[in-house]
Amino acid sequence: MISVESIYKKFSAGRRKIQVLTDISFEVEQNECVAIKGRSGSGKTTLLNCMAGIEKPDSGKVISLSKELSSLSPGKVSSFLRVNTGFVFQQYNLLSYLTVYENIAFPLNLNGIFGMKAKNRIHKLLDMIGMIDAIDALPKELSGGESLRIAVARALIHKPKIVFADEPTASLDSKTAKVILDLLTKISKEQKCSVVFSTHDEEILNQADKVLELKDGRIL
Ligand SMILES: Nc1ncnc2c1ncn2[C@@H]1O[C@H](COP(=O)(O)OP(=O)(O)OP(=O)(O)O)[C@@H](O)[C@H]1O
Ligand SMILES: [Mg+2]
Repeated sequence: MISVESIYKKFSAGRRKIQVLTDISFEVEQNECVAIKGRSGSGKTTLLNCMAGIEKPDSGKVISLSKELSSLSPGKVSSFLRVNTGFVFQQYNLLSYLTVYENIAFPLNLNGIFGMKAKNRIHKLLDMIGMIDAIDALPKELSGGESLRIAVARALIHKPKIVFADEPTASLDSKTAKVILDLLTKISKEQKCSVVFSTHDEEILNQADKVLELKDGRIL
């Protein structure tokens, strides 16, 4: 499904040079839920971004659904991401001027799905996550946990093959965190979608089939 093959990534900021990822290799199977744990600054976001094709590693390969991402043109990467992947960002990144419905409709519309087909799918998913009453709300009217549910719905609505979630539960209490991660993993299993999430919360790690730990740029 996804094969990460010896990727390296460093950043330079001013005089500081940071080797964030060093010789990282692993695989994610279809339907598998993989957690990446590590302290703040250990490179979790960088690794997820490289796996998703949002950032390019300095060397090494990410082969996702048989495509080597760094060999694709920017346009091809965009269309690949639009169809095959969903991303739950660390800060949710809901579009503030769009309603809940419109935020979730966005990836569907980009994939050419409009009208009743879109509407039915969105209503069904909002029902599943217990947010149907908030359908016309704006993001600023939602709590953190509610925003995350909508971000999860937006990442899954177009039935991607892979969902990435970057510390999805970082700012929630552990009970809410568990409920939302349950939803993410349950819907993904139903849709036969692989999940890769990062976290520093030990309590939600047991929802993953496999846990990888990032430390000093390497997978332990
Ligand atoms: N665009 C960038 N330019 C320069 N340095 C960067 C950039 N992005 C990340 N870094 C550095 O790379 C390191 C890893 O950052 P990253 O965001 O991947 O960590 P993280 O594990 O996601 O941390 P957190 O748990 O705080 O989200 C940090 O030292 C960070 O300062
Ligand atoms: Mg991060």
